[in-house]
Amino acid sequence: MRTIAIVNQKGGCGKTTTSINLAACLARLGNKTLLVDMDPQGHCAVGLAVPDEQIERTIYDCLIETQDGTPCRINDVVWQIATDFDLCPSNIRLAAFEQVFAGRPGREDRLGIALEQVKNNYHWCIIDCPPSVGLLAFNALKACDEVLVPVETGFFSLHGLTKMMETLEEMRERCGKEILIRVLPTLYDTRTKLAREVLAELRTKFKHCLMESTVNFNTKLKEAASFGQPITEYDPGSRGYKDFVNLARELMGHRPAEVEPVANEKLSRPMELVQRAKQLAQLTNFQFGKNTAPNLSAIAANDASSNSNNGGFSSETKRSTEQKIEDFYGVKQVGTDVIFAARFDNAKRVLIAGDFNNWTPMSTPLITNGAPDRWITKLPLTPGRYRYRFVVDGKWVTDPNNNNVEANEYGELNNVVEVS
Ligand SMILES: Nc1ncnc2c1ncn2[C@@H]1O[C@H](COP(=O)(O)OP(=O)(O)O)[C@@H](O)[C@H]1O
Ligand SMILES: [Mg+2]
Repeated sequence: MRTIAIVNQKGGCGKTTTSINLAACLARLGNKTLLVDMDPQGHCAVGLAVPDEQIERTIYDCLIETQDGTPCRINDVVWQIATDFDLCPSNIRLAAFEQVFAGRPGREDRLGIALEQVKNNYHWCIIDCPPSVGLLAFNALKACDEVLVPVETGFFSLHGLTKMMETLEEMRERCGKEILIRVLPTLYDTRTKLAREVLAELRTKFKHCLMESTVNFNTKLKEAASFGQPITEYDPGSRGYKDFVNLARELMGHRPAEVEPVANEKLSRPMELVQRAKQLAQLTNFQFGKNTAPNLSAIAANDASSNSNNGGFSSETKRSTEQKIEDFYGVKQVGTDVIFAARFDNAKRVLIAGDFNNWTPMSTPLITNGAPDRWITKLPLTPGRYRYRFVVDGKWVTDPNNNNVEANEYGELNNVVEVS
């Protein structure tokens, strides 16, 4: 179980919003995720519509000894919010923790011990911390492997952040263990000059610990909380959803790339998405073919005569493999390699991510070849079915020359290639 504490002593910088929606997105991406509320204000339960009057036990009961001398088990306290998404709630009773445990040995390790019991039940644990650096936050710090500090990109944020980072550094030393501390810009409003300047300053001052992902100001996130839903349910077409999926992907090890939201409307059913893509394709004169992936070796065998995508191959012209590769746009198998080639005018950097590289675009750049706007890579792939997409100057893009697509869970289209 990978445990991340969401910490900042400043209130209103997006800790709870980050905790809820990051946990929801990790779960949506197939990770079993536990969200633990360590703030006595109990905002996680409010933001996820768990009724306060029905909460009998909270994280507090897992930290203190009950009458028989043993704390409650986390499993007996959690509420299932969605598939793979559980909440261990809190309420105002947790405020007593600091006083009850004042001066007691081991008081900083209570959360770590409680989470130890469930470490094999979850892939991820997200801990929402209170806006203070007292005993509750220290418990979170001792229990976690990583800290994420959400920072509002506003006027006082930089001042507060330097102090916060110093405090965290001291706490980390007291913990006596390696904790990765990273900063997440939140509530970012691209339209304001101040926000852009603050983000630029963050990138300079905190470049070694700044997340690549940024959470934009998005009213859908506010609305989602007031409706008691994570953004995954409230509006999966929103900018807020994209930002948190990006953050989850970045933490999962996939470098994020700027993705455009699908649209303002909800597009959650795959067929709807494919339909929509086809409509868009018609508008742009792009032909969608049949919905099965092409057999690439057949294409490779026929490529001298197939000239649908290759800019004018002629069966009369005998060409070397290198020449064929140069002329080709799309995806095809040549021997044991698969060639991906696409034209992206004026692109500065083109990457590819797919099942073959664990969806880490940074690991597989394309190079320009033959022409300045022709991007190409050759990958040795074993037989199988692979999904992939390009990342062009930071934007996820569906391969325009491969008409085999399927909807993915982010509301976008993946390309499919079958290698034989
Ligand atoms: N990215 C965002 N866009 C719009 N509103 C946001 C965003 N992040 C947080 N908010 C809103 O700002 C307020 C404070 O956020 P919250 O997550 O509760 O902060 P904290 O837990 O640090 O006190 C809430 O009303 C929340 O809905
Ligand atoms: Mg909060």
